[in-house]
Amino acid sequence: MKTVNTHPASRPDILEDITRFYDEATVDYAYWSERMNMHYGYLKHWKQFFKREDMLEQLTREVADRLQLTNDNHILDLGCGTGASARTMTELDSTVHVTGVNVVASHVEQGKALNRTHMGRSRMNLLHADYHHVPLPNAVADGAFAMESMCHSYNKNLWLQEAHRLLKPGARLVITDCFLRNPHKPMNKLSKWAYNRFRINWSVPHLAEIRLFEDMAKEVGFQEVKVEDVRWRVAPSVFHSPFVVGRFLWNRLIRRKHNGEQTVKNLKAVLLSIILGLDRRNFSYYIVTLTR
Ligand SMILES: C[S@@+](CC[C@H](N)C(=O)[O-])C[C@H]1O[C@@H](n2cnc3c(N)ncnc32)[C@H](O)[C@@H]1O
Repeated sequence: MKTVNTHPASRPDILEDITRFYDEATVDYAYWSERMNMHYGYLKHWKQFFKREDMLEQLTREVADRLQLTNDNHILDLGCGTGASARTMTELDSTVHVTGVNVVASHVEQGKALNRTHMGRSRMNLLHADYHHVPLPNAVADGAFAMESMCHSYNKNLWLQEAHRLLKPGARLVITDCFLRNPHKPMNKLSKWAYNRFRINWSVPHLAEIRLFEDMAKEVGFQEVKVEDVRWRVAPSVFHSPFVVGRFLWNRLIRRKHNGEQTVKNLKAVLLSIILGLDRRNFSYYIVTLTR
């Protein structure tokens, strides 16, 4: 499929920020995941606790389970990074076709390069586009997922409408992300500070509030909404992050490498997300499954 540009009339500054951030910081994710999974993990069995990559892959397996795919399905990865989850999906299901959508051109290029040598290469396609305006026809997909990418959306309602448009009736959309829990309960000073810094450093306009998001999804037309709070399943992988940051900085120090602006932002955001994770009242990690 042809590479398509972002819808020009809907390209707010945040997309420039996101692109600048990932253009520079993506290479650092290799410290986090050898397969370039750019998300947290899911602990299914306690034996996975020290196996970070297995936990990261497990989150993709959890998404695949919830999509309830049948043979020869076409699914969308909305905000696909460099395609790690798309590659895993083709390994899990030998008939699935995955189209990854990403607004960052360098992610699409890197993803295409990684896909070239992968066994599922003929069943993967990466599209350069903003996931609020995907240049694909209505009802094109048997399923869709978004792993820690919806948080970057500048308009969650538009995002849901677009996902709804792209799905066939009965198809599922699975989102794994951090959400706000209690909009009416004020955050303490530390959480407020950490949340604001986290948003700036990771180019997140705002996190969706889980109950409002559920209502919004129903208004947009999703028939069923299932919300699972998986904080305790995700926490073990978050526990790995200070060690990864430490190893990263130590390596940089030895090699006398300078940390660029976006790398510093990434490191800050990783540490800030630990503070948010400790505030159980206001933040949590969810898997949301919506049926069209
Ligand atoms: C934290 S990464 C997660 C990547 C991937 N889902 C994974 O789990 O490995 C967030 C991704 O969302 C993409 N993204 C952010 N805003 C986007 C937008 N408006 N349209 C398409 N992709 C977007 C980013 O470029 C990035 O690849």
